[in-house]
Amino acid sequence: MSVKKAIIPAAGYGTRSLPITKAVPKEMFPVAGKPAIQYVVEEAIASGIEEILIVLSRNKSLIMDYFDRSLEYEAFLEKVNKQHLIGKIDTPDIHLQYIRQPFAEGLGAAVKLGRRFAGNEPFAVLLPDDIFIGDEAPALAQLSDLHNETGFSVVGLKKVKNELLKNYGVIKEEKVSEGKYRLIDIVEKPKESPPSNLAVSGRYIFTPSLFDHLEKTTKGAGGELQLTDAVKSLLKEEKCYGMEISRNRYDIGSEADYLRLIQSIMESGR
Ligand code: UTP
Repeated sequence: MSVKKAIIPAAGYGTRSLPITKAVPKEMFPVAGKPAIQYVVEEAIASGIEEILIVLSRNKSLIMDYFDRSLEYEAFLEKVNKQHLIGKIDTPDIHLQYIRQPFAEGLGAAVKLGRRFAGNEPFAVLLPDDIFIGDEAPALAQLSDLHNETGFSVVGLKKVKNELLKNYGVIKEEKVSEGKYRLIDIVEKPKESPPSNLAVSGRYIFTPSLFDHLEKTTKGAGGELQLTDAVKSLLKEEKCYGMEISRNRYDIGSEADYLRLIQSIMESGR
């Protein structure tokens, strides 16, 4: 079954990017005139998604305002004869819904809020702070291909340097073919002996059974409900795959990556 629904969890505090995140959500950081989250919404649309649920927190209303129609701007641009700019303020051509996460209890808790939205269908999760740029197929579309082939959950992967693996969910795997893996195990932020150099990176497709595993999962690393722990439980009962994403990945919560992202977009004229 092809994936039509996506959840974008955007309710985190963005502590690495303080103090700006006190007022501006990191998902709204500008990247060549557009907020970062718009790249992720465009990626979802380009990957065949038809409905998106964005998980917000109290200080993230700016995201909802941004994706709303701006009648004021439309009227103003008409009045001053700048109709040619109206296309710039078009709302994305997709059905958007929002839900608030009352406490930032972790990525797993944010995804869990999407249970009713996803229903009995497979669904995607796109982390809005991970932006994938490149000439290859959109990151989520790369995962969709493997999901359509297998019918099972697929997590996006990137090879990460040894010393940085402690910041990620890391998989233990069995190689299926170039860039495609079957998950044997997954460890959140391994302190020592990471099981591979393949880190989970910002894009996922899940079968609806993930929700049963999220319900059973208790708080893990950092006192948060970890999505990785629910995946670990899922793969005991169901096959789960990993797909190396060929596009470059930029984490906008890292200042160096954010600058590299802007540079790459300016250079490529995207
Ligand atoms: P991160 O841990 O990377 O983001 O969560 P953060 O917590 O916002 O930022 P730092 O690490 O403190 O700087 C990954 C994604 O999960 C969302 C975040 O918004 C981000 O997109 N998230 C995290 C939630 O929606 N809810 C949570 O409770 C935690």
